[in-house]
Amino acid sequence: MSASLFTPFSLRDTTFSNRIMLSPMCQYSADEGMATDWHRVHLGTRAAGGAGLVMTEATAVERRGRITPGCLGIWTDEQAAALEPITSFVRSQGAVPGIQLAHAGRKASHARPSEGGHAYPIDHADGWQTVSATDEPYPDAEPAATRRMDAADIDDVIDAFREAAVRARDAGFEVAEVHAAHGYLLHQFLSPVTNDRDDAYGGDFENRTRLVCEVVAAVRDVWPDTDPVFVRISATDWLPDRDSWDVDDSVRLAPRLRDAGADLIDVSGGGIHPDQQLPGTGPGYQVPYAETLRDGAAVPVAAVGGITEPSHADALVRNGRADLVALGRELLRHPYWPLEAAHALGADVEWPVQYRRGRFE
Ligand SMILES: Cc1cc2nc3c(=O)[nH]c(=O)nc-3n(C[C@H](O)[C@H](O)[C@H](O)COP(=O)(O)O)c2cc1C
Repeated sequence: MSASLFTPFSLRDTTFSNRIMLSPMCQYSADEGMATDWHRVHLGTRAAGGAGLVMTEATAVERRGRITPGCLGIWTDEQAAALEPITSFVRSQGAVPGIQLAHAGRKASHARPSEGGHAYPIDHADGWQTVSATDEPYPDAEPAATRRMDAADIDDVIDAFREAAVRARDAGFEVAEVHAAHGYLLHQFLSPVTNDRDDAYGGDFENRTRLVCEVVAAVRDVWPDTDPVFVRISATDWLPDRDSWDVDDSVRLAPRLRDAGADLIDVSGGGIHPDQQLPGTGPGYQVPYAETLRDGAAVPVAAVGGITEPSHADALVRNGRADLVALGRELLRHPYWPLEAAHALGADVEWPVQYRRGRFE
């Protein structure tokens, strides 16, 4: 019998009670990188709502790697301690806690979306110097200057990912997801759109993929053997009019990521340049990329993008198009979506004991 949305899924010694993943979503509600009550309620509610995997938002591995001053961080022990009650509550609900480890590179030093989302110049009170594969800034309306990373910067970033993973592990997370998508730092190295280097980290495919593989290996090195490491990638830059990253590159990258220690690829798209041409954002708009990686590189994948219907999510698993199904905005609208989906699909799932009287008859 084929697996369904509510069939448990195991990677290494970690078992997810179902295939539903809370997709990482920035909340812009941290205080100097520290989780607040908002994160406890937001992530805790999605765990009580029945998601098998509750993934944090992009969590910066170093201070300059935050997208905005409101982003979560894990570059200090104090920040890790603020996340520990969250992992403990998420586990108490039978969900697996995951953390997305991130560095925004040249897309850092921005205002929160609620404050306009524009780039802050270096000398602004809330801004800072960003770093990247290149010294070309992200082409915002008012681009913030960035600085091309040298060899020492690259070593520092790899160390920052490793140290962040140690803190995350000790804070109780069971999945570490390396964020290499959406035009952030690791994607800036992968894509020829942003990587104009002529050292060992630029030029051909092997060199451009070196940093992400080294970061994944550093995280894997300190992550428990029993627990999985994920990598989120943008399968394509959606820039067919120029030399850019595309799905064939992603299929080529997948086995390298696996060799570096990744257990699953979370397949997203875009973010490297504002000229990107999305083919649409309808239901499951990125699923074909996940499916291509699953078939072409034989790696487990998470599919994400425009998935809202239980029957659609269920069919993705039943038809072997995805191993996990990540939901973003739908879980903002419906935190108890997994419990409702189980009812719709006739699956028998545990409800939080406190809510049992609310079970569908
Ligand atoms: C408010 C918001 C914040 C997001 N923040 C992140 C993030 O921190 N890391 C990430 O990889 N993707 C982020 N995303 C992208 C989502 O994880 C997801 O891939 C995207 O929204 C498409 O899925 P959906 O159609 O189910 O929302 C964010 C999306 C939203 C709506």
